[in-house]
Amino acid sequence: MSANRISRRAFTSRAAAFTFSAVTASKSLGQSSKDETVVIHPEISAGRVRPELHGHFAEHLGSCIYGGLWVGEKSPVATINGFRKQAIDYLKALGIPVLRWPGGCFADDYHWRDGIGPRAKRPKRVNIHWGNYTEDNSFGTHEFVELCRLIEAEPYFAGNVGSGTPQELRDWVEYANYPSGSTLTDERAANGSPDPFKIRYWGVGNENWGCGGRMTGEEYATQYRRFAGYMRNFGTPLYLIACGPNSNDSRWTRGFMDSMQGRGYPHGFAMHYYQNLRVEPTRFSVENVQAQLAKFDDMEKAIVQQRALLDSYDPERRVGLLIDEWGVWDGMIPAEEKKYGRLWQQNTMRSAVGAALGLNVFHRHADKLVMGNIAQTVNVLHAMLLAYEDKCIRTPSYYAFELAKPHRGKMGVRVETGDSSPLRLSVSASRQYGDLVVTLVNPKHDTHLKVSCRLAGATASAASARILHHQNFNAANTFEQPDVVVPKPHAATADGARVTLELPPMSIVTATVKI
Ligand code: AHR
Repeated sequence: MSANRISRRAFTSRAAAFTFSAVTASKSLGQSSKDETVVIHPEISAGRVRPELHGHFAEHLGSCIYGGLWVGEKSPVATINGFRKQAIDYLKALGIPVLRWPGGCFADDYHWRDGIGPRAKRPKRVNIHWGNYTEDNSFGTHEFVELCRLIEAEPYFAGNVGSGTPQELRDWVEYANYPSGSTLTDERAANGSPDPFKIRYWGVGNENWGCGGRMTGEEYATQYRRFAGYMRNFGTPLYLIACGPNSNDSRWTRGFMDSMQGRGYPHGFAMHYYQNLRVEPTRFSVENVQAQLAKFDDMEKAIVQQRALLDSYDPERRVGLLIDEWGVWDGMIPAEEKKYGRLWQQNTMRSAVGAALGLNVFHRHADKLVMGNIAQTVNVLHAMLLAYEDKCIRTPSYYAFELAKPHRGKMGVRVETGDSSPLRLSVSASRQYGDLVVTLVNPKHDTHLKVSCRLAGATASAASARILHHQNFNAANTFEQPDVVVPKPHAATADGARVTLELPPMSIVTATVKI
């Protein structure tokens, strides 16, 4: 039976029988070893894993854009039309389904006209959110769209509500999407793009409860209606994304939804959920690791509760839930920020485990989510790449996303671990026809897991797996040693109704199974 033919009865069934084997623990070499049983229900859908759940976010912040993705055509670094070639190659290989830009807080002080036309004539503006340095606007609308084309990502524009006007935003939509024949589209053509960009995803402000205007949910709803009312579909149906809550703030969601009074709902509502723990990235203690990784459970609760709250207003789910900023936010080191830019954060094995826990949450709740964008792509916060001068390396979290890639587009299926303790084994699974993909994450620093995945109603004929693991959760890839944490092939055994594999402490394994 194909995944998209899962029956309604099977989908809603609570009766599927499962058993868990006894958990045994034995000590060896200072680590405990634990047997775990996971039950995977390939016939019970948890919703399609939209590729957009693996989305990304790039802001004009520190060296994410300038010096990171964009080094300019005159740079001594190898480029493709001014874009850092190594970054393009890595991001294209990873496959970024959707990329959100230009912020973040920056979005609500960005005036798109500053970033079009001949680069030498573009104005210099002060980036008031991220250090009051000046930007020459050499990276603007056309450059972002070209970047997205190079890496084959769908662009997501975040519009300015905080310091902008409805007219400015409606003009950006016309400039980007109207086919031809208006003064704005003539200007677009003169700037090198006669064809419309066909931008589908538009954010109407960012964090308008904070840096985007310090509004209440009710006040923002009024602004949302004013701005969205002038954003038109010019042959490209728009997907308008309203600012959602800071973490699981139900007051914001209620205030916004109450004020909308059932009319003119946005297509999407974007929560931001960071896993903050302000400790230097490579100096996490065991307690720090546990405290930060436990926050992924809180994000899972927030998804369930915010979706339920939206459902209470909008049972047909016309409003999709997004998390368009998420990830680990550690403590910055001033000397590193000075050298590499604001919010530069080293990325470790612990960060990768965090990324994999987040992606597993998204897969398990694929029916409730439309998009997830990790913050941010290069050099900032929970980054995929670190770049400096002529060097560009992949972080452990890049590989966590790479390991999750086979889930994209497949049908998420139900998994049962029978364990709700903190830092338990995390599992997600998805299926398309006879291909089952399972990602398992062991967030414990001291426990080796021997995992048996029982397939309910299916037979496994073959399995292969890859692992990302380092015994030191503070291990990182550096410019000098870029391959400290990299994925490797891993043993997995398919034995009829079971797949068995082992997860050392702090590891991520993705198994692909033929069923
Ligand atoms: O990602 C960094 C910042 O975090 C963004 O600019 C803002 O939206 C959030 O507070």
